[in-house]
Amino acid sequence: MVVPGSQHIEDKMYHPPEGLQKDAHVPDFNCYLELYKKSIEEPDVFWKEVASDFYWKKPPTGQILQYNFDVTKGNIYVKCMEGATTNMCYNVLDRNVKDKNLGERVAFYWEGNSPDHHEAITYGQLLGQVCRCSNTLKQMGVRKGDRVAIYLPMIPELVYTMLACTRIGAVHSIVFAGFSAESLCERIMDSQCSILVTADGVYRGEKLINLKQIADEALEKCREKCLARLQTLLPDPYQTSPIKNQIKSRLSIPQQNLLHSRRQTPWDAACDVCWEEVMGQVSEQCEPEWLDAEDPLFILYTSGSTGKPKGVLHTVAGYLLYTSLTFKYVFDHQPDDVYWCTADIGWITGHSYITYGPLANGATSVLFEGIPVHPHVGRFWEVIEKYRVTKFYTAPTAIRLLMKYGLDPVQKYDLSSLRILGTVGEPINPEAWHWYHEVIGQKRCPVVDTFWQTETPRSGLLLQVFRRPWPGIMRTVYGNQERFESTYFKKFPGFYVTGDGCRRDKDGYYWIAGRIDDMINVSGHLLSTAEVEASLTDHGAVAEAAVVSRPHAVKGECLYCFVTLKDCREFNRTLVDELKRQVREKIGPIATPDFIQNAPGLPKTRSGKIMRRVLRQIARNEKDLGDLSTMADPKVVEVLFNHRCETA
Ligand code: WT7
Repeated sequence: MVVPGSQHIEDKMYHPPEGLQKDAHVPDFNCYLELYKKSIEEPDVFWKEVASDFYWKKPPTGQILQYNFDVTKGNIYVKCMEGATTNMCYNVLDRNVKDKNLGERVAFYWEGNSPDHHEAITYGQLLGQVCRCSNTLKQMGVRKGDRVAIYLPMIPELVYTMLACTRIGAVHSIVFAGFSAESLCERIMDSQCSILVTADGVYRGEKLINLKQIADEALEKCREKCLARLQTLLPDPYQTSPIKNQIKSRLSIPQQNLLHSRRQTPWDAACDVCWEEVMGQVSEQCEPEWLDAEDPLFILYTSGSTGKPKGVLHTVAGYLLYTSLTFKYVFDHQPDDVYWCTADIGWITGHSYITYGPLANGATSVLFEGIPVHPHVGRFWEVIEKYRVTKFYTAPTAIRLLMKYGLDPVQKYDLSSLRILGTVGEPINPEAWHWYHEVIGQKRCPVVDTFWQTETPRSGLLLQVFRRPWPGIMRTVYGNQERFESTYFKKFPGFYVTGDGCRRDKDGYYWIAGRIDDMINVSGHLLSTAEVEASLTDHGAVAEAAVVSRPHAVKGECLYCFVTLKDCREFNRTLVDELKRQVREKIGPIATPDFIQNAPGLPKTRSGKIMRRVLRQIARNEKDLGDLSTMADPKVVEVLFNHRCETA
């Protein structure tokens, strides 16, 4: 194993301990190579074998993978298991409970924000709750193909709802519960969701977040936008559909552990439905809807370079095959494992490696509502000890954060249950890797680095572009095939472009070097510079804005914003605070800029394009700017250096 890192390459090799290799699904490199070769040379045989583990109501009719990756030859498409019919929920639940007799096995150890709140949920119980929720959704009018917006914290009901959608053939669109009302509204509108599922609130650490209130605000915004749209679209009567398609009702979950009472939650009896009241009244049985292999499974929004989030669409069969296989091999899943992925289900990592991948394998997982530093900075290690976690999967940003507190909080707990560690989300720097390997893994646990994206659940070998698809690759941008093709396939006809740069070392290992587009990776989450710029220029004082990344000790990268003010507006602390708040409100707390600097002028080419490379260098205080011959007015550079922000 090679030490990953974004800055420099280390020569030292680390091999997994022998005991662990012996019983592994992929015990050594040759075995890996064989599997890899088979997947490339005989994809049909390879995937048929994976598919044979699952239930298909009807078998596929043609080749397992059919595709066109070449824009010059027509529309881009990928199809997996064409002709087959199946159901995701049936495969991850009924199959485990009925065929494999795992009804009594724990699916999730739910651990709340407070260590006093916890609950074990077996596969049998999970199936019952999911069926109840399926019946509830049906009762509320949700039908196959309808989109359901889910705005929930990390509580079991989030899993119930997403699986209920897949059971009845509805398409879930989960919006991370840290997003703002504006972001939620935008996502609901884009995929025309007909129902919103939310909770009254959640504690994140000490902080109470009133989710229902934010959700109500989002729906109010949707209503306003629909009305505005309606006015511009009249008099064509057929164009009135957007308003018809909007949220009809919202299902809301009262959270037991909140201090405030239900009565304080805003409630509108005309459209609000209380989870507890309806769930008790429906049956625990629900026939799954048999879907085509390529029917949509879910939509998940990711940042796009135009600033408008893209609804990445995934489909049923491919996602099942891909997440189940990668989970099994990458984490070397064994029946006695207790697995914990610390991501939020609101992100793709959670979709793939908290819900679908682990459940497809009948795994036992920890589902964690809290944050790493509450009620103390040893919380992660405490949870590992409490559930005897064997496989632990987290992000470099969390490792860097926890490293700061030294060894004491780690040494208080028994981490001897750990066997494999994983990281995801961004390149891991050598310092964080070594700490993870030595202090957490006690030098006995291999560290698996898993590169992939919302678009492409994929692990293992890394390439910047891909010539062929795999079952778990995205199928389109919801409602915008043209954007799908131009974003990923137009740059190099015949290839899928990830947007990441990578290097190959002398041993043939690939090192992901980070984004090569206008995307910034903050704490493992991609943000588009255009989206942040748009929320800055929405402010009355700002004429123009340009956002670049700057290295950050914990977040990996952070946002450094240059703003040009309108004439007669003054740049001061109050304005900076206002701008930060504005971005926070428009996008969400993860997008809060660290630096906002006054930019009386921006470096531009003669054709008017902002020279981001130069801005990045100014943000990092790199004085040697290289070739500036294409710049329209080189004088702006000195002014920008004079206005630099040293501290956030
Ligand atoms: C982008 C995708 C993978 C799910 C979480 C983020 C970066 C992701 C790694 C890694 C280096 C990584 C890439 C990628 N990235 N994992 N192990 N090493 N970079 O999903 O928000 O769609 O972001 O995250 O830049 O393109 P996402």
